[in-house]
Amino acid sequence: MPTTARTRSPTVRVPKRREETQSAARKNLEFWEKGSAAYERRNRRVLGGRRAKAWGLWRVPERELGLLGPVKGQDVLELGCGAARWSLALEAEGASVVGFDLSRAHLGYARRERARLHSHLPLVQGSAERLPFGEARFDLVFCDWGAMTFCDPYRSVPECARVLRPGGILAFSTASPIRHLAYDPRTDRQTRTLRHEYFGQHRLEFPDTIDFQLTYGKWVELFLENGFSVERLYETRPSPRVRTPYLSSHDNAWGRRWPLECIWRVRKGAGHRTSARPHSRLPYPDQ
Ligand SMILES: C[S@@+](CC[C@H](N)C(=O)[O-])C[C@H]1O[C@@H](n2cnc3c(N)ncnc32)[C@H](O)[C@@H]1O
Repeated sequence: MPTTARTRSPTVRVPKRREETQSAARKNLEFWEKGSAAYERRNRRVLGGRRAKAWGLWRVPERELGLLGPVKGQDVLELGCGAARWSLALEAEGASVVGFDLSRAHLGYARRERARLHSHLPLVQGSAERLPFGEARFDLVFCDWGAMTFCDPYRSVPECARVLRPGGILAFSTASPIRHLAYDPRTDRQTRTLRHEYFGQHRLEFPDTIDFQLTYGKWVELFLENGFSVERLYETRPSPRVRTPYLSSHDNAWGRRWPLECIWRVRKGAGHRTSARPHSRLPYPDQ
């Protein structure tokens, strides 16, 4: 979800070297180690309780969208779990869940939530660009504005394909590729003007974090290359009565007219072979 006010122009370009994606992980780690306390203070009200199993900026209940399906008995991985409220809610429904996050500080909140619920949910620290799990370990990999927003998709999507079993589901919410086009960094607002190029979106460098985004066409191409078929692309459109604490009232209203966020559900094909490590054609040399 949006992290903080963004005050300088993001630059959009394709990273040339592996070090650049490592520097993204470093910058994002630094942000989340420092920023998780403020994030939790600001948002825990809308993230917990009966809204633990809800998607995105407007907390659309999973029971309305049905993107994960029944989870009882399933092996589930949450990427960028934060305080692991989603993971704990799915565990309570009978899934075997692993909560995974880059930030030790954010996993500290997850440990507190886990203790409060007397759970033994496994919590693992690492980056979703290199998952510390074997092939075909999970039936479901998901994230709610978690790692998929902050990882290079040319690394995270192949990793998800590798750890999923044939027939397994990857579901995640993140910004829509449209959102960035009309974003004005000077005012930190969505506008009605096209300010950034659509084609070539990839690494979006903000003052605090580095986010990643692709055009719709490039997302679909990447899913297909990694053996996924697209089952759903949900574009959140909140009703006029619904507000989100993540956005100003201005941007909230913008989100009723243009897609600000989207939620993908893709399924790994039954016949797709997993490789030991990511095999996607990177748009830059993998050094
Ligand atoms: C906006 S928070 C969302 C947390 C949680 N999903 C929620 O809704 O509260 C983003 C989370 O993604 C994690 N994250 C960022 N980059 C990551 C990466 N490369 N691998 C794993 N987690 C990452 C951050 O540490 C943070 O906890």
